[in-house]
Amino acid sequence: MSLEKKLQIGIEDKLALTEFNGETQPNLDSVISHYAQSLNQTNLRFLGYPTNQNLNCDTLAPLLHFHLNNAGDPFRGSSYTMNSTSFEVCVLDWFANLCEIEKSKYWGYVTTGGTEGNLHGILVGREQLPDGMLYASQDSHYSIFKTARMYRMQCMKVSSLVSGEIDCDELKTLLLAHRDKPAIINLNIGTTMKGGVDDLDLVIQTLKECGFARDRFYIHCDGALFGAMLPFIKQAPKISFKKPIGSIAISGHKFLGCPIPCGAVITRKEYINVLTDVEYIGSRDVTITGSRSGHAPIFLWYAIKRKGFMGLESEVHKCIANASHLQHRLRKAGVGAMLNKFSNIVVFERPPDEDFARKWSLACEGNIAHVVVMQHVTTEMLDSFVDEFLQKRSTWFQDGRFLPLCISSDVGSRHCACSIHNSVS
Ligand SMILES: Cc1ncc(COP(=O)(O)O)c(C=O)c1O
Repeated sequence: MSLEKKLQIGIEDKLALTEFNGETQPNLDSVISHYAQSLNQTNLRFLGYPTNQNLNCDTLAPLLHFHLNNAGDPFRGSSYTMNSTSFEVCVLDWFANLCEIEKSKYWGYVTTGGTEGNLHGILVGREQLPDGMLYASQDSHYSIFKTARMYRMQCMKVSSLVSGEIDCDELKTLLLAHRDKPAIINLNIGTTMKGGVDDLDLVIQTLKECGFARDRFYIHCDGALFGAMLPFIKQAPKISFKKPIGSIAISGHKFLGCPIPCGAVITRKEYINVLTDVEYIGSRDVTITGSRSGHAPIFLWYAIKRKGFMGLESEVHKCIANASHLQHRLRKAGVGAMLNKFSNIVVFERPPDEDFARKWSLACEGNIAHVVVMQHVTTEMLDSFVDEFLQKRSTWFQDGRFLPLCISSDVGSRHCACSIHNSVS
């Protein structure tokens, strides 16, 4: 039995909340220390999800003595004085600068994550265009379709290209067919599964060609992971408020590595002009949730302040270089694998073995799986993953002959290694 499994079993017995009296501190310490050991083991093979497990926040431990709550508008202050809005505003200014909007022209807040940022951005869009129809590519995150259901918005699912980015030809057809309704577009700055980046300029041009004037469309950008990466790559497409976008949501626990789920949403200040003062909190009710974490903005502030632009830039390049290493190793071994430009997400044929996928925490969808190469993922980890994958792969085919899965409809024939499309590079 692996060390990880042994540690897990050891802990699970001790978790049940059955004691009448409180547990002793040494016993509690022992449970937590076992759990930390088991997490350290799991982390050695944590490949499939876009969370950076490398941010050391030990310095912030003294802050765990306080309940900090940023309920309300971070720019207004609040009568709940145990808050961290001074940190929050600095973090928001940093994000605003990243997506090129002046301090005096933006509004935003630190959310619970990408989903809340999407809920807020699309809500702002709908407040601007109450009878707007939502357009989102089929590769959009599930939170977008959930948002449409929650707000009872009509939603047009647009096809995606094999890269994962939105198919603007189909978008055009749908826009023309619904010209009578304003358009609220969800633009993916990195799709969840493939890391496809929707072409903002082409989407804007498509809207124009279909006769949608500036006051009849709203673009919300879902930049959960890449929203905090692309700004550090000179050649990457710019997601900028200098273009006609309405909002952007970025996760804080993904690239930036905050240990608790969080994110930021940035929008144009002119859209947040509703009078929603709430006397109880002495602030404005302009956020999705009421109570908001006061710790999350401090963790974000710490990550950004510690690394600076240069540190983050170098992390982005390292992740992408390591992703390229993984893709090359897979392709060289005859495994179908795709890596989009400016992306750290390697998409490849799904291993037909649930235990193997779970062991490496792979995220799978249909015929494909992916590895997201984050800061804690080293080339050594990737090499041992590939070695084990190749070794297992030979046992997944009973007669010993390789029959690689055809994944050309998912990643394009160029990246597929099946017997028909075999084009090992
Ligand atoms: C593109 C995209 N949008 C939104 C989300 C949702 O983010 P969260 O899990 O922080 O709510 C994700 C999560 O993976 C994502 O990949």
